[in-house]
Amino acid sequence: MLSRQAEWDAKHSSAATQPAEKPAGILTELWPLLPAGTALDLACGRGRNALFLAEHGRHVTAVDWSAAALDILEHRAQALNIPVRRVQRIDEARQLRAGIDLLLANLESIALPANRYNLILCIRYLQRSLFPQICRALRPEGILLFETYTKAQLDFSGGPRNPAHLLDKGELRRAFPELETVFYRALRAEQGIASLAAKKTR
Ligand SMILES: C[S@@+](CC[C@H](N)C(=O)[O-])C[C@H]1O[C@@H](n2cnc3c(N)ncnc32)[C@H](O)[C@@H]1O
Repeated sequence: MLSRQAEWDAKHSSAATQPAEKPAGILTELWPLLPAGTALDLACGRGRNALFLAEHGRHVTAVDWSAAALDILEHRAQALNIPVRRVQRIDEARQLRAGIDLLLANLESIALPANRYNLILCIRYLQRSLFPQICRALRPEGILLFETYTKAQLDFSGGPRNPAHLLDKGELRRAFPELETVFYRALRAEQGIASLAAKKTR
């Protein structure tokens, strides 16, 4: 049986020749409200969101455990003339210029640097054990954008089926009590999905 990591590699590889995906709606909708500065894209996949940020002049550290996903992201960045490089450790990333630092890593064993990012994205990835680290990794005035499936997704096709990978009703709204909610939405229409933008105020 394939490991979860190998399954993701296979999924990404099979999409390699497809056109690049659009960035997440929450990112483009809230873009005018997002702070300048350096960003972290957790479980970046093939990089639709990291590419959007880099094209808009941001520095992004993009982390995923799928080598196939990072290869695709690297090629797409190069095709767009976006500076891209591989890093071996998360604290090796420099935040001086626009572009993408790619880190191949298992988020289940990562240590995020404290007070480092102005923006953290976690889109369509749910690892509850990361929540405290995400808060610590934000800089003051930094914003977290979090969007992923809820258990309502079980009424629709596609998306994760394992309840452990699905948010409970209202869970995302309560998940980051240290942060101030700027935006929250839970949809049950064609998909079950919850979205949060929250700011670190202290
Ligand atoms: C549904 S995709 C979302 C990709 C991207 N955030 C987006 O919105 O397009 C989930 C991603 O999580 C990655 N992933 C799953 N478990 C992981 C882990 N333990 N560590 C790092 N990445 C992981 C997968 O490789 C996959 O790229």
